[in-house]
Amino acid sequence: MKFFIDTANLAQIKEAQELGILDGVTTNPSLMAKEGIKGQKNILQHYVNICNIVDGDVSAEVISTDFEGMIKEGKKLAALHPQIVVKVPVTKDGIKAIKYFTDNGIKTNCTLVFSVGQALLAAKAGATYVSPFVGRLDDNSTDGVELVERIIDVYNYYEFETQVIAASIRHTMHIVKCMEVGADVATCPLSAILGLLNHPLTDIGIAQFIADYKKVNG
Ligand code: G3P
Repeated sequence: MKFFIDTANLAQIKEAQELGILDGVTTNPSLMAKEGIKGQKNILQHYVNICNIVDGDVSAEVISTDFEGMIKEGKKLAALHPQIVVKVPVTKDGIKAIKYFTDNGIKTNCTLVFSVGQALLAAKAGATYVSPFVGRLDDNSTDGVELVERIIDVYNYYEFETQVIAASIRHTMHIVKCMEVGADVATCPLSAILGLLNHPLTDIGIAQFIADYKKVNG
């Protein structure tokens, strides 16, 4: 089971890395824009900066929607750093691009997945990762965790090697539920990762232990 952080914020990536549990990073154009990163040179440098903080895979998303554009962009992204994974949307051109990248030794993350059928095509094209968006499904009255479980069942049945990233994670229970159904990766905001630590009985227990120690030791 792997933890990725879903942000382009360098301070948050560093904080998760220092925790010692981080396996990688996912970004998307919205997350890059949120950090105010603009201009192709700065965007590419930002991906390199992220790679220099973490040891694992770093997903960088293409903006192009046509096959040729995706290939050109994806090659440029992949050449930036060995940790880069090219993130491609699950469209007709996207599936063709994933197949091309797979055949050319470039890792991919098939994104914006909202159905088992989309996940099936991503796996057939050889995607390294597939990203079902749990939170966005829940936002639309559809069970996001259930989709993760169904994709995993199909992948296991046919022994696909594509790893399932539970994406669009909003809170701790999304992480726990996705792990319970066997997701390979959860990509999460830092708040959700740190939220896993929360339990009032832990806080009460620590306070009690310190109080008892002080009673005896002053
Ligand atoms: O990894 C995909 C993720 O960034 C989407 O999250 O919260 O915008 O649905 P969200």
